[in-house]
Amino acid sequence: MASRKTLDVVVAGLALVDIIGRPVDIRRPPRKGGLQLVDSVTLTTGGNVSNCGIDLAKLGFRVAGISRVGDDLLGDVVRRHLAAYRIDTSGIAVDRRAQTSATFVAVEADGERTFFHTRGCLKNLRVEDILAHVPLIRSSRIFALGYLGLLPECEPHLPRLFQTLKQKTGVEILLDTGGNPEHHPALMRRVLPHVDFFIPSREEAAILTGERTPEAMVRTFRQWGAPYVVGIKLGSKGCYITDRESAAYVPAVRVRNVVDATGAGDAFVAGFLAATIRGMRPADAARKANAIAASCVTAVGASTAIKPLKEYR
Ligand SMILES: Nc1ncnc2c1ncn2[C@@H]1O[C@H](COP(=O)(O)OP(=O)(O)OP(=O)(O)O)[C@@H](O)[C@H]1O
Ligand SMILES: [Mg+2]
Repeated sequence: MASRKTLDVVVAGLALVDIIGRPVDIRRPPRKGGLQLVDSVTLTTGGNVSNCGIDLAKLGFRVAGISRVGDDLLGDVVRRHLAAYRIDTSGIAVDRRAQTSATFVAVEADGERTFFHTRGCLKNLRVEDILAHVPLIRSSRIFALGYLGLLPECEPHLPRLFQTLKQKTGVEILLDTGGNPEHHPALMRRVLPHVDFFIPSREEAAILTGERTPEAMVRTFRQWGAPYVVGIKLGSKGCYITDRESAAYVPAVRVRNVVDATGAGDAFVAGFLAATIRGMRPADAARKANAIAASCVTAVGASTAIKPLKEYR
């Protein structure tokens, strides 16, 4: 069965562009109607489809994306950027009703970032957009969706989406979180039984569960039905990872000079999936994921520092 797979991971959810200006002192804007020079304005892609997708491609894996972009220049940028990494973009729909989702990022001289965001056509993303690509998903080992917390139109329908994908494709499912997920145990009890890999960050897990410690968060996710890998991303502390038999804190790889933490969570997910596909057990996959996410924070940009998997010893 595995040998017939032509893809390793299908990444679905957010694809957008970031327009990053620096340095911008947002406490002291130019006078109304005025103009202020900045050192640089950079256009790049963001969201889990772009970040995690490009990370996996750079690690050496075969990836497809499922999302939506507008019928505009920003949408061309997203599709061209993904295609440049040989990511299959047949699942990226072009929406003629709304613009490509985009964020203007104002970066202060000290690196602090302030976001101005438009959801654009991602407001129109539905689970049907994903179910339209069952054959693509069937050709893949893993389906990774993000972010719970930023897909309000899809979230009530995730149980149906995941159940259908399990029945029709047999893929393993990873769910990532972002933004402001709701505390909604009734929904989580219907979602988590289908999710093979659930490793939210500590802040998001705290909202989802109302718990404070990683152990208690994981216990709650298991009570809600999460069957296999459950963990918590702990930023500069690494992660807490569990499967049915074992639980471990896996410390982060020490980084002397953190340059830009953008995309660290996506790099962790990409690294974890890459290692899992290579046959590693969860604790070892988490160690590899920490190493890959640590390299992410050493350079500006979500995927800049990601290297082929074999270079992470
Ligand atoms: N300062 C750091 N030094 C080393 N590793 C780090 C650092 N910050 C983050 N990481 C790595 O990145 C992983 C993900 O970071 P984090 O826990 O912040 O996830 P996240 O909140 O999902 O991130 P994001 O803000 O990208 O969504 C961590 O588990 C860790 O491996
Ligand atoms: Mg995250």
